[in-house]
Amino acid sequence: MRKCDKNKGDFKVNNEIEQQYEYMKKVSEVIKNKNFKYSIYTMGCQLNENDSEKICGMLEQMGYVKTEDVSSSDIVVFNTCCVRENAEDKLFGKIGEMKRLKEEKGTIIAIGGCMMQEKHITKKIHESYPYVDILFGTHTLHKLPEDIYMLLQEKKKIDDIIDIDGEVFEGLPISRNDNIKASVTIMYGCNNFCSYCIVPYVRGRERSRKPEDILNEISKLAKSGYKEITLLGQNVNSYNGGEGYTFSNLLYDVNKIEGIERIRFVSPHPKDFTDDVICAIAKCDKVCKTIHLPLQAGSSIVLKAMNRKYTKDQYLALANKIKESIPNVVFSTDIIVGFPGETEEDFEETLDVVRKIKFEQVYMFIYSRRVGTPGDRMENQIPEEIKHKRFDRLKALVESQIAENNQKYIGTIQKVLVEGKSKNNENMLTGRTDSNKVVVFEGQDELIHRVISLKVISEHMWYLKGKLA
Ligand code: SAH
Ligand code: SF4
Ligand code: F3S
Repeated sequence: MRKCDKNKGDFKVNNEIEQQYEYMKKVSEVIKNKNFKYSIYTMGCQLNENDSEKICGMLEQMGYVKTEDVSSSDIVVFNTCCVRENAEDKLFGKIGEMKRLKEEKGTIIAIGGCMMQEKHITKKIHESYPYVDILFGTHTLHKLPEDIYMLLQEKKKIDDIIDIDGEVFEGLPISRNDNIKASVTIMYGCNNFCSYCIVPYVRGRERSRKPEDILNEISKLAKSGYKEITLLGQNVNSYNGGEGYTFSNLLYDVNKIEGIERIRFVSPHPKDFTDDVICAIAKCDKVCKTIHLPLQAGSSIVLKAMNRKYTKDQYLALANKIKESIPNVVFSTDIIVGFPGETEEDFEETLDVVRKIKFEQVYMFIYSRRVGTPGDRMENQIPEEIKHKRFDRLKALVESQIAENNQKYIGTIQKVLVEGKSKNNENMLTGRTDSNKVVVFEGQDELIHRVISLKVISEHMWYLKGKLA
């Protein structure tokens, strides 16, 4: 566990975590020798995945053992996302399925994460799913041990949700999903308030971890054999480590850590993509030359309504500047179709940017109204049918570009981090290129977890086939 700093603010944070370790011990005594199991269901982005790894860490510290079999679980945790509407339907369906398990086995049902910061959602859970035991929010994740202990002791429902700007907690146990690639959250929250987005409301204000805490975590990961690190935040390039220490400083320092072979980061915001960050990516040999540069929309009018703080031309100019400074750089992006007021001409501007940049990968979303955001209050909402048609047109363009782009890989030699056996074919191995493309190939198990050279021999839309070079 991290030692207390002299700084007063840190005492509070660390004392809270120390207290939670006490609760973990208490729960472990209560459930001793009972062979209790847990399962977890995670929705949403990589930040939520990383939070879930901390939830798993706490549960395992308490003595619960992970199972994929929900019906044998003594506690089921849902870590929720609310960025788009379909997540809500999915969650309510899943909680509905828990009723029988609760009745038959008395399983504890705990729901946490972003959706729990929305009052209309917690109200619905209280009213329609009274058998849910624990609700916790994004600012109280670390208190899950205390919540479980209180529930076990006092048998009463726990509602542990607060609405604050947020704090940074260090020292929680973590149980990671992967043993070669690891995500490291470098900052929490978001200050941007893009007009479609709920994240700033449910995750609080931007706050950065201290550089030494991040670097210590990554050094430890390197020592235990991790090769690839993804630095996470809603807006990583506004990372502020204090005393002028910026995101580019962090890239240089992570690049120096022995044992780490690849560094990725998501998501940067185009408006904060300063020259020092471009320079750091160019100079740091371990930083992958694949940049996720969320576009959201191609029309400057829509971008203004979205509160993105850049125009189409500024986005294109930034992409060009990055291309000039970083040889062989490739881009991936996020795009929303059907934002309120988006006209046919506006949508064409999005297609135009896609044609010009030729993204390596595009995460495409249909605009989803989020309660409490300015976008939801706009009058000129786009009919569902038009949104879907535009989505299909964008998808067709993106897929044709990916197929074309894949051709460029054929015959090239690619450095691939071998992740393991292919899920679809036991006899093949799978890995990823620097640009994050999946490559499947025949090889011996001893290649697993190594970075090797492969020659690409064919393309299959979502993956490439390779052979040892
Ligand atoms: N902070 C990151 C990612 C935020 S959420 C960024 O700014 O890039 C991931 C993606 O979900 C966003 O980039 C956006 O494309 C999409 N998204 C967010 N809110 C949405 C909404 N209301 N409807 C549809 N897509 C949305
Ligand atoms: Fe949402 Fe915009 Fe913040 Fe990303 S930068 S989390 S899209 S408000
Ligand atoms: Fe979803 Fe929360 Fe991430 S709303 S996208 S899980 S920050």
